[in-house]
Amino acid sequence: MPPAVFQDSTALITGASRGIGAAFSDILSTWGADLVLVARNEVDLAGVAARAEAQGVRVRVIASDLRDAGAPAALVKQLDGEGITIDHLINNAGIGPFGNAAVVPVEQQLSAIQVNIVASTELTLRLLPGMVERGRGGILNVASTAAFQGMPHMSVYGGSKSYILSWSEAIWRELRGTGVRCCSVCPGPTETEFFEANGFRIDIPPVLFQSAERVALRGLNAYIKDRSHAVSGLTNRIGSLAVRFSPRTLATRIAGTYAKPL
Ligand SMILES: NC(=O)c1ccc[n+]([C@@H]2O[C@H](COP(=O)([O-])OP(=O)(O)OC[C@H]3O[C@@H](n4cnc5c(N)ncnc54)[C@H](OP(=O)(O)O)[C@@H]3O)[C@@H](O)[C@H]2O)c1
Repeated sequence: MPPAVFQDSTALITGASRGIGAAFSDILSTWGADLVLVARNEVDLAGVAARAEAQGVRVRVIASDLRDAGAPAALVKQLDGEGITIDHLINNAGIGPFGNAAVVPVEQQLSAIQVNIVASTELTLRLLPGMVERGRGGILNVASTAAFQGMPHMSVYGGSKSYILSWSEAIWRELRGTGVRCCSVCPGPTETEFFEANGFRIDIPPVLFQSAERVALRGLNAYIKDRSHAVSGLTNRIGSLAVRFSPRTLATRIAGTYAKPL
């Protein structure tokens, strides 16, 4: 039985062309939600859309580069123009340029802020008032276990995920009693192209990686239960708890040891 929250609803997923975003699409289409899929790669988006359409849902694909400052506003304007109401916004698109802050080109680091923070925030601010007015739906943000401590060699990425977690929790609190949810899911290492796309690998046993499907399902279940956040995977939950009881400098030092350049 598909979850009632997603009945007769439309979900917008950013970063839907592959990885965790595509997994959100696969699951939500089996639950009967109509979808708006956003990313840059139109060919990959079309493949994900075809799988969803095969489940009988309506899918709108919109190619958009969220590094562009005007992209979130243009996206919402386009949806308004087409009469598409977004009930659920999944802020999933994310990038994490690898390298030290003093070395990675400024533009690349600012792009990560634009995609991970600004686009997620702007889409939320533009879509949330309608959700509150209708008293349904909500926001599901993809944060990371990187949110819990400083991330050497990925400092902007770690900072952006700390922002997402903190900001999302505050909105969750503000929304009490409105019928609208705001949840963030914090995955640890996940089997996607994220590492390749951002020029690094992480040296941990393969068993510590989760599948994109498990992460997406964990996020959706937490969202359905109206949780403020969820850490995906037992090891990641233990790790995020351990960080709370460790000196911050130690947690940051350890976090900086796993990622290596490709
Ligand atoms: N994989 C992990 O270990 C892990 C762990 C914790 C958190 N996360 C988070 O999970 C989320 C999804 O990542 P993933 O693991 O699925 O990585 P991924 O395979 O690299 O997918 C990233 C998605 O974001 C889209 N994207 C990237 N830049 C974009 C841009 N400028 N404009 C629009 N879309 C853009 C990509 O599509 P296009 O290239 O087609 O634009 C793709 O669909 C991210 O927020 C990431 O930080 C991942």
